[in-house]
Amino acid sequence: MEVIIQRDADAASLLAARVIESELRANPRLVLGLATGRTMERVYAHLTRMHREEKLNFARCRTFNLDEYIGISPDDPRSYHFFMRRHLFNRVSIPARNTRLPDGTARDLPSAARRYEKLIRRAGGIDLQLLGIGRAGHIGFNEPLSALMSRTREKALTPMTQRQNAPMFGGDPRRVPARAITVGVGTILESRRCLLVATGAEKAAILAKAVEGPITSMITASALQLHPRCTVIVDEAAAKKLKGKTYYRWLFENEPDWAAFR
Ligand code: GLP
Repeated sequence: MEVIIQRDADAASLLAARVIESELRANPRLVLGLATGRTMERVYAHLTRMHREEKLNFARCRTFNLDEYIGISPDDPRSYHFFMRRHLFNRVSIPARNTRLPDGTARDLPSAARRYEKLIRRAGGIDLQLLGIGRAGHIGFNEPLSALMSRTREKALTPMTQRQNAPMFGGDPRRVPARAITVGVGTILESRRCLLVATGAEKAAILAKAVEGPITSMITASALQLHPRCTVIVDEAAAKKLKGKTYYRWLFENEPDWAAFR
């Protein structure tokens, strides 16, 4: 794992977008794992601008999103399907057939989940998995106690996650769906590269636990410590509680792989 600390949320999102850009330019048929949430809005805004101004081409890449609420239709403005069209897909002219999200309206959720795993495998696996972190320490909707070898499946959301995501539901946590379909921690760990972005002071405590604490299913983001190629990009506010900050900065400054990004 490597941790890169940037001045503010915009610089962190820009660096994340630059990493995605370089992977996509190197491989136009990249299989991208995508995430939702406010943190991602900034990353997608940068990608949209790169598409518009710097000819970044998404036409041949394929995408798989992490998760979707159960019982919310893809046309509902609160769905992650809608979020992705609004913040990325419609703006970078990526063919709809190249984009996939788990189906939260499937009658048979276990078989929809198995199908999703199969689609990822058939695409050759995820090349680059973009991730946010929830306040409960989740990646995707892998809430506390999610098995670290879990696959795509249905999951109950914690009250903390319902509170965090309430703004999309008129500010009322009771209106946030109680369940979601999410790719598993095991699915995420099989991606060739992981890129976690966290910004803002409210992520500082959970981020420090995920990066520097023990690996535990209580904080599923901590499983990323096992991943052979995981980059964590944070702003100063989210980095506040990291003990190894000086070392992480030194690594970033001295690592030849990052020369083009400094
Ligand atoms: C939701 C998503 C997660 C995401 C999290 C962070 O819970 N299911 O994948 O990481 O939001 O959200 P935000 O960026 O708004 O803090």
